[in-house]
Amino acid sequence: MNNKLRFGILGTARIAKSVTPHLQASAAAEVVAVGSRDKGRAQKFADELQIPQAFGSYAEVLHSPDIDAVYIPLPASLHCEYALQAAAAGKHILCEKPLAVSAEQAKQMIDAAKRHQIVLLDGTMWYHTSRAREMKTLAENGSVGELLQVTSAFTFPGNVLAADNVRFSKDLGGGSLLDVGWYCVGASLWMFNDVPQRVFAAAQWQNPENISDSVDMHMNGLMWFSGDRVASFESGFTAIRRRWIEIAGSQAALVCDDFTRPWNPEKPRFWIHDANGVSHQQVYEHPPIERCLVEAFCDLVHERQIEHPWLMLSLNTQRVCDALMKSARSGSVENV
Ligand SMILES: NC(=O)c1ccc[n+]([C@@H]2O[C@H](COP(=O)([O-])OP(=O)(O)OC[C@H]3O[C@@H](n4cnc5c(N)ncnc54)[C@H](OP(=O)(O)O)[C@@H]3O)[C@@H](O)[C@H]2O)c1
Repeated sequence: MNNKLRFGILGTARIAKSVTPHLQASAAAEVVAVGSRDKGRAQKFADELQIPQAFGSYAEVLHSPDIDAVYIPLPASLHCEYALQAAAAGKHILCEKPLAVSAEQAKQMIDAAKRHQIVLLDGTMWYHTSRAREMKTLAENGSVGELLQVTSAFTFPGNVLAADNVRFSKDLGGGSLLDVGWYCVGASLWMFNDVPQRVFAAAQWQNPENISDSVDMHMNGLMWFSGDRVASFESGFTAIRRRWIEIAGSQAALVCDDFTRPWNPEKPRFWIHDANGVSHQQVYEHPPIERCLVEAFCDLVHERQIEHPWLMLSLNTQRVCDALMKSARSGSVENV
């Protein structure tokens, strides 16, 4: 009997081209359809990736009786609308990050998932790797002493993208905070197992003359947690490609120079630095990060874990992003 989770994909996004082969390679999943605003684009995507059905709308995917789960790699501003429709249609939802564009939307999505008893998971891949789990364990089990500071950066040069890329559109939920800062904020909350009380952010804007109608092209943020614990981050579309994190305690620090995606997929690594300049490299091999995400999602569905802990992390990440954006626009420290 074939009890694979049958996926439909909404849209022909660039990221969907990377994720689809991992859905197809999983023993727990198969991809049965793709829908696009444009039927020809859906057919081209389906031909390229050997997907049996191509639809000229997202609605046909959402209402197909042959589909158990949808993958939503749409621009962030559309995640909520289509996740609500998918939940109402009884489809499980693997939704790209950021989960939504506001905590209010994220909450609506999570409430709908619970109401309709479907699994919802955001597409932050690195959380589901063995390397990330090991870093989290070391941060929690006293190996670094008392955990005090998380510092992270995720940047890449936006000039490699077309001017109409979704990341540069305010209406579509663009901006560096939600695109790459999402990972830094989420990592900080995850490592501290907590939500900051107050935040401050400073941004460079797409149009400094009209910041209320601009996306942030670069952001520096500070997050204050209880007990004098602090996280800081940099997100942006200007500096070179960087994706590093330092998780510092009173006795040691974990340093990872590629936390969201290993530079060398064969050798996912991080270092434990002690107080005397001695560092030990740790290597935690794991499958490609897309595959780790797909397997985590399929496990949640098969175990019928509707109220799993990742949802609270997504919601809290979104709450903190809301407060950071508010701070970047107001120039003031904001409560979370
Ligand atoms: N988890 C990760 O590692 C990762 C990596 C990259 C991106 N992402 C996330 O994935 C999502 C998509 O990013 P992407 O860079 O792959 O986007 P993209 O290539 O621009 O694709 C977005 C897709 O959304 C559909 N769409 C619907 N309305 C649209 C509109 N008004 N404008 C543009 N596209 C529209 C389009 O499909 P049709 O025209 O075919 O309908 C388009 O192909 C974002 O949330 C992003 O943050 C996640």
